[in-house]
Amino acid sequence: MKIKIERLNTQKNPQQFKQEYEVSSQRLLDALNEIKTTQDNTLTYRCGCGSGVCGSCAVQVNGVERLSCKTYINEGDVVSAIKRSEVIRDLVVNLEHQEKVLKTSHAYLEAYQEETITPQDEKLIDVQSNCILCQSCYSSCPVYEVNPDFLGPYALTRVLRYVNDKKEHQSRSKIDAIQSNGVWDCTLCGNCTMVCPQFIDPKTDIMNLRSKSVQAGYSDPNMNNMDFDSGFNTDFGFNPNGF
Ligand code: SF4
Ligand code: SF4
Ligand code: FES
Repeated sequence: MKIKIERLNTQKNPQQFKQEYEVSSQRLLDALNEIKTTQDNTLTYRCGCGSGVCGSCAVQVNGVERLSCKTYINEGDVVSAIKRSEVIRDLVVNLEHQEKVLKTSHAYLEAYQEETITPQDEKLIDVQSNCILCQSCYSSCPVYEVNPDFLGPYALTRVLRYVNDKKEHQSRSKIDAIQSNGVWDCTLCGNCTMVCPQFIDPKTDIMNLRSKSVQAGYSDPNMNNMDFDSGFNTDFGFNPNGF
């Protein structure tokens, strides 16, 4: 089967180009390893666990974010690096964004307090704790086209995970940290939810964070920019009293 890989090696050529390879492996990560070991050892990509838990192998297949270790390829597939990050070489991107958004959004345990944890408490943070920081949701999010400072889906999902964690004594600072370039900037398009290999739903997590923000006294800043006066004369020229 033939697949095409979008490649970049700035030392040789500043432009990306597509290269076609014939492979016998069906799983994408195996196909990349096959190319690297038998055809072209300059091909560059990331992988770690090989089983969907380290998050390092995210790429795009025909423009859709996928983990290469969990993806089976078809004839003619085009494989490229994930979007929104600078491509360092071939399928490898710069991951600096990750540290920046997790720090800015306080998406970590800030003030630990001893607590008795029940199975219900565990359930509350279980799904979000499964995030493997693969960046697929980040790659799929359209908001970055207009706002590169958007905190984005996985950072906000992690914020909800720590806000809902009984052991976190300082959840208020997280809610404060996600008001700017955060919960209100999401368009609720759902792309992030569609591509998450861990079946996390960042869109719903963001909606939950919006309601927690309102409970904390914040409101949607976009509402202040809306013009509720439609320009129509509200009586539409009609006098209900007949005079
Ligand atoms: S739902 Fe929000 S965070 Fe998710 S991809 Fe769409 S705009 Fe981005
Ligand atoms: S939320 Fe899902 S898609 Fe986004 S980084 Fe975490 S595991 Fe990957
Ligand atoms: S290699 Fe670890 S998730 Fe794919």
